[in-house]
Amino acid sequence: MKPKTDCVKIGILGCGAIGARVAKSVKEDLTRDCQLTGLYDIDLKKAERISKSLLLDNVVKKTIPDLIKSCDCMVEAVNAKSIRPIIRQALQARKSVLSMSVGKLLNASDLFQLARKNKCHLLLPSGAIAGIDAIKAASLVGIDTITLTTRKPPSGFIDDPYLREKGIHLSEITKETVIFEGNVTTAVKAFPRNINVAATLALASQCREKILVRVIVSPKCTTNSHTIELKGKFGHILTQTDNFVCPDNPKTSYLAVLSGIQTLKQYCSGVFIGT
Ligand SMILES: NC(=O)c1ccc[n+]([C@@H]2O[C@H](COP(=O)([O-])OP(=O)(O)OC[C@H]3O[C@@H](n4cnc5c(N)ncnc54)[C@H](O)[C@@H]3O)[C@@H](O)[C@H]2O)c1
Repeated sequence: MKPKTDCVKIGILGCGAIGARVAKSVKEDLTRDCQLTGLYDIDLKKAERISKSLLLDNVVKKTIPDLIKSCDCMVEAVNAKSIRPIIRQALQARKSVLSMSVGKLLNASDLFQLARKNKCHLLLPSGAIAGIDAIKAASLVGIDTITLTTRKPPSGFIDDPYLREKGIHLSEITKETVIFEGNVTTAVKAFPRNINVAATLALASQCREKILVRVIVSPKCTTNSHTIELKGKFGHILTQTDNFVCPDNPKTSYLAVLSGIQTLKQYCSGVFIGT
């Protein structure tokens, strides 16, 4: 496959629930502005499966440097312990990065500086929550209080290290139970794959220390729901999303996938609305 000259070349790192859907969208819907030129997963078979299902040739890359070389913008959608060195490599090569693993970028000002220095972009989607545009605006005059309440069914917490550490058994939870209440830094450490929204909220509001995070396991819940409440000089904001889960990964909300695709669409087309 020859890269089109007028399109942004997209490389996808991580071919799980999010990566697979982003790949399909790039191939089938965003054809005017971008083109899929690279797929990489630590499990090569996953990249090959997507390439085959989308009838693509020569897009599966065997190494991360090859993936970075193939694209203008890398979409990071991996559940790796550490993603910062990979993002750094891409930014050093002057490639933009759209990162889904926002929870791992809480203290990443060095990466934002590198992007600025190299005239590329580090893009973070709003993910599974609503109102990030308003929260960014509100942060300009100061926010007094913020609470984030995340409510998920037990299937959303399978294998979460925090539950193991605290001896919480999902099978024994029969009614709504608050399993965590604390600050963003602790929340992101406790639920590394489950609470990216807390990090997004912290980065957007610029007042991490004021955020109270509450995590609830709810056996009667069928969606991943996030309620955000803020008060400040701007007034009062209350938002709630009740997200259907991604069939391939119950920890991931479908809205988060769509938000990644929309961010990519805006970046590639150059049209930014409400951001
Ligand atoms: N921003 C948000 O609101 C939001 C919402 C949901 C998920 N996420 C994050 O997005 C990421 C992806 O989510 P998902 O649902 O697609 O996860 P997933 O588990 O379905 O897929 C992750 C993929 O990454 C691959 N992988 C793991 N380590 C790798 C490495 N070092 N190099 C290459 N590939 C590697 C795995 O093999 C897997 O295919 C996770 O970090 C998740 O926390 C963010």
